[in-house]
Amino acid sequence: MKVLGVSALSHDAAVAVIDDDRILYAAHAERFSRRKNDAFLNSSLLEEALAFGKPDLIAWYERPLLKKTRHLMAGQYREAFSLGDLPRRHLRKFGLGNIPVEYVSHHESHAAAGFFTSPFEDATVIIADAIGEWSTFSIGEYRNNRIRWLSDSIYPHSLGLLYSAFTQRIGLKPNEEEYILMGMAAYGQPIYKPDIYQDFFRDVNFDEGLQLATNVHAGLGNWKENARREDIAASIQAVNDEVMLKAAAWAAERSQSNNLILMGGVALNCVSNEKIARLWEKTTGLRDKIWIMPNPGDAGSSLGAAAAIQGKKLRWEGPYLGTDVAPDNSPEKLSDYLASGKVAGLCQGRAEYGPRALGNRSILADPRGSETKEKVNQFKRRDQFRPFAPVILEEYANDYFDMPVASSPYMQFTAPCRFPDDFPAICHVDGSSRVQTVNRSQNPYLHELLQTFHQTTGCPMLLNTSMNLKGEPLVNNREDGERFSKKTGVQLF
Ligand SMILES: [Fe+2]
Repeated sequence: MKVLGVSALSHDAAVAVIDDDRILYAAHAERFSRRKNDAFLNSSLLEEALAFGKPDLIAWYERPLLKKTRHLMAGQYREAFSLGDLPRRHLRKFGLGNIPVEYVSHHESHAAAGFFTSPFEDATVIIADAIGEWSTFSIGEYRNNRIRWLSDSIYPHSLGLLYSAFTQRIGLKPNEEEYILMGMAAYGQPIYKPDIYQDFFRDVNFDEGLQLATNVHAGLGNWKENARREDIAASIQAVNDEVMLKAAAWAAERSQSNNLILMGGVALNCVSNEKIARLWEKTTGLRDKIWIMPNPGDAGSSLGAAAAIQGKKLRWEGPYLGTDVAPDNSPEKLSDYLASGKVAGLCQGRAEYGPRALGNRSILADPRGSETKEKVNQFKRRDQFRPFAPVILEEYANDYFDMPVASSPYMQFTAPCRFPDDFPAICHVDGSSRVQTVNRSQNPYLHELLQTFHQTTGCPMLLNTSMNLKGEPLVNNREDGERFSKKTGVQLF
């Protein structure tokens, strides 16, 4: 059976095509419309998806009527009574009105996206996000392809919503710029952590579900008006770490499975993820029993909803599932260019499904030396305080970083760098890096590039950042790449 999974009408719309146990295609609407986090589907995206054949069924990533009951409770009356956001109406615009639609609940979609792509036969699953239908923080156990729920927290009691409210409090865009708050946290002290527990939590308890003291959906007002925003960021990050660690410890006691899966938008927090990976290893005595699908937020639920309908393990080959671009240059040629100290754009292979550029839509540079960050920032214009990420040959990762996991092919964990002074461009102020590891089967082109660069320079890693202009989505096709190159002067490979 061919299923088209859809996540749309909220933020960052996406689709996935799954035929039996094969993932044929998965991509984000924003890459086609060129509007970051675009909530709506578009015909260019669907044209590519439908090139894989007409689906027998559409799987929608949440239950619209259940969501409307939550809208009602939240006082969002316009959303509660609007018919414009009903899935069928949106699907009809693209000629998909005559295909049967099945609805999968929001957290079941997250759970299925995690489990059915994972290497595990059984797993403990933790799902934490901001807001969907009612569930905001769920813990469950997968066995025989079925989930048994162990804990559920419901709106407005939401860790993700609280983190987003703090994102807004420090002047950033909620539901989008949480990663900037996470980066800023390293510059502050968590001095307000006790105040956050005092003012916003009634109980951190997974038997009954999380209990916040107040509904933070409308923001925090001017909480701690005169505080440094770095200290506020450090404080909420510390709370996020602690609540997630508590959830993992609670789950470890109740689930029979030693395999852990994290999903939901909170699973994009690679600082907390590092701490959870280390705790899980300590608790179980087992390393590398953690899996986060590289698109753990709501866009990834396009794949999750379709996976839940298929109800079986999928053949996961990696996140390179979108638009295909033929390579224009050899890895050797690109390696020579990078070894000469220049910054290059690489647009080849299938586009990444998920928020991170993992080598197919990336800007690359030699990570060594004090001038690299400045050089790359000429094009990226990202906040000066944020570091870039390294991509490294898997077998060298532990020589350069104190890795919490043996391999991290999707840049999901921070790890202390062993030589921060040698690689200032890819190290944060606290000496950590968000590491991507690569082996041949994960990305043959990138692997060969790193091997050649290593042979030429003695350095087994490169700086890797997303190929996009500030405020724009990742480039998708060759034309986008050429436009980027023309605007920035970065040579395209
Ligand atoms: Fe979600």
